[in-house]
Amino acid sequence: MQNEFVDKAVSQFRTLIEEQITRAQAMEHAAPPKDFQNLKTVTIGVIDGDGIGPIITEACTKVLNALLKDEIDAGSIVLKPIQGLTIENRLKQGKAVPDDILAACKACDVLLKGPTETPKGGTMESANVTLRRELDLFANVRPVSVPEEGIDWVFFRENTEGEYVLGSRGVEIPDTLCMDFKVTTRPGTRRIARAAFEYARANGKTSVSIVTKANIMKKTDGSFSEICHEVAKDYPGIEAEDWYIDIMTAKLVNPAVRSGYQVFVLPNLYGDIITDEAAQIQGGVGTAGSANIGDQYAMFEAIHGSAPRMIETGRGAYANPVSLLRAAEMLLRHIARPEKADKLAAAIASCGLTITGREDGATCEQLTDRIIELIG
Ligand code: IPM
Ligand code: MG
Repeated sequence: MQNEFVDKAVSQFRTLIEEQITRAQAMEHAAPPKDFQNLKTVTIGVIDGDGIGPIITEACTKVLNALLKDEIDAGSIVLKPIQGLTIENRLKQGKAVPDDILAACKACDVLLKGPTETPKGGTMESANVTLRRELDLFANVRPVSVPEEGIDWVFFRENTEGEYVLGSRGVEIPDTLCMDFKVTTRPGTRRIARAAFEYARANGKTSVSIVTKANIMKKTDGSFSEICHEVAKDYPGIEAEDWYIDIMTAKLVNPAVRSGYQVFVLPNLYGDIITDEAAQIQGGVGTAGSANIGDQYAMFEAIHGSAPRMIETGRGAYANPVSLLRAAEMLLRHIARPEKADKLAAAIASCGLTITGREDGATCEQLTDRIIELIG
């Protein structure tokens, strides 16, 4: 009986390796990147998601409608709602991202996405993971800044491979063992490393921290670090420093040293975990935006999940839209609207309202109205 499972697992492993080789080869022959800075019309798909998603997405849509009014009226920017990426519909259709929704996403240039619920266990993939893969959004860019402490960090989290790409396709020998797979490809690592070093160069940064656990995950993280160092050779003047994820996690909570870090590049799962820690240092995950950048598409979202507990306990009205507003700011920069992005950033910084997620803080609506007032 066990042999049967072993045979099945071995043949599945072969399939996975072949698929990943095909994916790596496809990356080598990728189409030239779309020029997001010079689009004649920009279609922004807006996905509201689950839990607090619809609340913060509505807030953000109102702000964008105010901020981009002239261009929306003139038709050079289109805000297009994409409905149905809800946990109920996804479970009903048995698809992480139903086909019609994926097609609607692909008909847009960029997406603004509210958080979606991710089922634990089972085989249903996270909608985020599916969208990142299907749209090939390989760079998850997450800025964190605390100006009064001199903290200005930008994380470049690899977003299409690592622990995530086969996370729903592990093997199980019932009652005995389970195995998941982690994948690092050469072109996949080169492109995230290049994105990090290009950002560093364009923004006058002098160091990039390569964060892995290459002492333990010798194949995957070992090659991730090696390839990042190869790429680093093209960027003289920018120091490439190796760090292990455990000690880096400690460094980020050490006020004596943390402002010295600038740009980080790291595999998917470490990037997921450490960016929540970094966001907390900035004021909580409700304050942090996230950009998923690919050559053909880009998707902007909050760093956090759908916060079902806030809805269950009746606190939805107190959800913080700042995470998604910061994502919208990144979106505006990506589509070459830097003045609009600056205006939004200034309004967020000076709105003077505190959101606590509870009755002792401002509501999502109060904050949204205040921001719209400040935008003028
Ligand atoms: C994130 C989230 C997602 C992830 C979840 C919702 C699948 O935590 O964007 O960081 O793990 O990547
Ligand atoms: Mg996360």
